[in-house]
Amino acid sequence: MPEVRPMNIGLIGCGDIARKAYVPNCRRFPFLNVAACADIDAGRAAAFAREQGIAKGGAVDDILADPSIELVVNLTVPRAHVEVDLLALAAGKHVFSEKPFALSRQDGERVVAAARARGLRVGCAPDTVLCSGVQTGRHYIDSGAVGRIIGGSCAFLACGPEGWHPNPAFLYEHGGGPAWDMGPYYLHSLITLLGPVRRVCGTASRGFDRRTIGSLPRRGTVMEVQVATHVIGLLEFHSGAVVSVTLSFDMMAGSADYGIQLYGTTGSIHVPDPNYTDGAVRIARRDQHDWVAHQRTHPYVEGSRGLGVADMAMAIRTGRAHRANETVAMHAVDILAAIHEAAASGSYVTLQSTCERPAAIRTDLPEWTLD
Ligand SMILES: NC(=O)c1ccc[n+]([C@@H]2O[C@H](COP(=O)([O-])OP(=O)(O)OC[C@H]3O[C@@H](n4cnc5c(N)ncnc54)[C@H](O)[C@@H]3O)[C@@H](O)[C@H]2O)c1
Repeated sequence: MPEVRPMNIGLIGCGDIARKAYVPNCRRFPFLNVAACADIDAGRAAAFAREQGIAKGGAVDDILADPSIELVVNLTVPRAHVEVDLLALAAGKHVFSEKPFALSRQDGERVVAAARARGLRVGCAPDTVLCSGVQTGRHYIDSGAVGRIIGGSCAFLACGPEGWHPNPAFLYEHGGGPAWDMGPYYLHSLITLLGPVRRVCGTASRGFDRRTIGSLPRRGTVMEVQVATHVIGLLEFHSGAVVSVTLSFDMMAGSADYGIQLYGTTGSIHVPDPNYTDGAVRIARRDQHDWVAHQRTHPYVEGSRGLGVADMAMAIRTGRAHRANETVAMHAVDILAAIHEAAASGSYVTLQSTCERPAAIRTDLPEWTLD
């Protein structure tokens, strides 16, 4: 790892994912310092700072005015992502946002334009695509283990997050639903594995108009469902591959395999659930048929959500491109918007954007160090 000056980061949004993932995981990287946190509810941020041992916790304006913070990690709810990104950029800070990057192409472009105008970086989750499961899958695809990818299918099928999330209403509002909430995991993974998408068609429906929260502290509260909760997209990639993606909160019973299956000219590959970092890559060959688990080729198996923040901080220090970048995020926003447009019109929609596959994670460095 190059010797770099540590970077102070400030978290905005002190909720579930800040506590579960970003604070503990960012602390694994020796060159990241979780220096401050903030929330629209400044009291919550102050309490979070005390609980997590973060030096400063308070109002969003405090982080924006703090010259020691170079990079803001935006962990707010989806409808606030663009607003908070723009505030951070206007304050002269790089920003890494949780997914989805934006809820429309136009809003996403506003963020990209603001960053470019100021010479700042923008990154976006999901960075699970940089972790062991998806990167190992990419290694086997790129090394020709199943030949040229012709097609594939992947599905996120669940009964919705109201049974476990402490504050699930936002997941049924604009920017929530299985497509905008879970779709980025599959789309960023497919872009990582296969490259950009050329055109899509799709369909979308809503199984229930109201949902009842099952988790504490709001158990029994009824929420209006404002979004489609069963969405199917058909993606034609520039590579020629055609992949179906089903994203649903309407599967009330049964279990599903959340992995990504891709079918090549000489075999098939199963890449594990992209919402997580672990899981085995399995391959079935034409002459062999049974699925065989293959050795992991890449690090970051556990506790690695936050890798995209670390990669972006290191990239800023060394001057290289960062992997979980705005072009991938904008292409995913374009695909999500296009699937919904296609569902409304009944026609294929050709994408307006494209992107490059980001560089693969290196395997010759110890974990928690980056090039
Ligand atoms: N919870 C998970 O398991 C999980 C997993 C992966 C990704 N995510 C993503 O992380 C993000 C946050 O999710 P969460 O589950 O932590 O939500 P949450 O509701 O638990 O926390 C969000 C926090 O953001 C704050 N906030 C909202 N608007 C704000 C604004 N304008 N300015 C400052 N603070 C604001 C809220 O007060 C709250 O404390 C979402 O984009 C979600 O998709 C969550």
